[in-house]
Amino acid sequence: MTMDTLAFMTKLENRFGFTPEDKSILKSNADWGLEIASEMADHFYGYLGRDAEMNAILNQSEGRIHRLRETFIHWFHEMFTGIDDWGAGYSQRRWQIGVVHVKVGIGPQHIVPAMAIVVHEVGKKLKVEGKSEELQEALGRICMIDLAFIEQSYVEVSTSAILKETGWSAALFKRLVTTGAASM
Ligand code: HEM
Repeated sequence: MTMDTLAFMTKLENRFGFTPEDKSILKSNADWGLEIASEMADHFYGYLGRDAEMNAILNQSEGRIHRLRETFIHWFHEMFTGIDDWGAGYSQRRWQIGVVHVKVGIGPQHIVPAMAIVVHEVGKKLKVEGKSEELQEALGRICMIDLAFIEQSYVEVSTSAILKETGWSAALFKRLVTTGAASM
């Protein structure tokens, strides 16, 4: 499957209004981001663990939850560092994260509330620690960009799998979807 992840990143940056100022404020708070990452992971996995369906996914295999805590901390910190100034490396990584979730069968109904928890908990932390509104807004925007990546990969991977299995063209598939939606 071919997906120009950097072009998608640029599109999202424009759509969300993620600016050079946002990047600069995130970078200057990268150490703080790493400091609070573990606490954010506690909130995140605490929340997922209270949902029976998500809890079952998290504990499906030995050591998964432990591995996930580590990957969450990396992911959270990368929102502040931008990896390569939110470039090709960052967008490829975000795309990969999306694909992993599609493989495990985790859809929008799981991902969206999980990201809402991150935004909510980090918002509380920013307030308690007297951090600026600009930082809160920059974080909100990068969280939404990351969310859009995971959600888009769900659509792209599902569509691509159907096209491959059936041999349909993308245009035929689109027509079937819109016709189907019209009859709902
Ligand atoms: C804000 C939303 C989420 C973020 C940012 C996130 C982040 C991540 C990251 C960074 C990885 C590692 C990807 C890799 O290996 O390359 C991962 C994997 C995974 N995530 Fe999430 N996740 C989110 C939501 C969820 C939800 C809602 C669930 C459902 C319970 C979930 C379950 C998993 C599982 C099962 C894996 C694969 C673990 C394994 O390697 O066995 N994630 N996630």
